[in-house]
Amino acid sequence: MSEQTKEQAASLPRIGDPAPQFAVNTTHGPIKLEDYKGSWLVLFSHPADFTPVCTTEFVAFQEIYPQLKELNTELLGLSVDSVQSHIAWVRNIQEKLGVKVEFPVIADLNKEVATKYGMIHPGESTTETNRAVFVIDDNQIIKAIIYYPLTTGRNMDEIVRLVKALQTTANHQVSTPANWKPGEKVVVPPPSSQQQAEERANDEELEVIDWYLAKKELKE
Ligand code: BEZ
Repeated sequence: MSEQTKEQAASLPRIGDPAPQFAVNTTHGPIKLEDYKGSWLVLFSHPADFTPVCTTEFVAFQEIYPQLKELNTELLGLSVDSVQSHIAWVRNIQEKLGVKVEFPVIADLNKEVATKYGMIHPGESTTETNRAVFVIDDNQIIKAIIYYPLTTGRNMDEIVRLVKALQTTANHQVSTPANWKPGEKVVVPPPSSQQQAEERANDEELEVIDWYLAKKELKE
């Protein structure tokens, strides 16, 4: 690994960090990260326009876009292709697959955003962004990061589930267990004192499996 690559890797954004700022050119004109303040944002990269897996993903991202909007969540794509290439590709998707891509796509020709967000993994490709997903909250803090390789299309149900889980945690100060789906019980924070551990046993709202593991229904 070169010294420059090592330095970039060391400064990559992580969960809990403020999302790196950007001002970019997109298929919807110029956009800045701060334009999204007050909304959640799913920022995702794809390797290249006019490639097969990416095309299936764009159709699938468009399919979940209305659900994301209902969650006060915007969608923003990115690759190192030009705006003209993005336009030609989304027009082709509409013509061949009957799906109109409604979310903006960043033309990151100089790889500025891709580098800041660590979307290029040189061991896999030095020229293309991999399949990264950054979930950024309404205060512009990174809440989750997913990376998939070039060859594996992402699971859109998981992306929607992840946004719902993160928002549930943000709104109710709870955690979500493995394979959690909206409507299922959530995990309450473990007790921080012996007294809390004892009180828990008598809390009728809780399903107590043991003093450190308890679940409850969420009241809307
Ligand atoms: C694809 O979208 O099919 C793809 C793009 C880049 C590398 C490998 C696959």
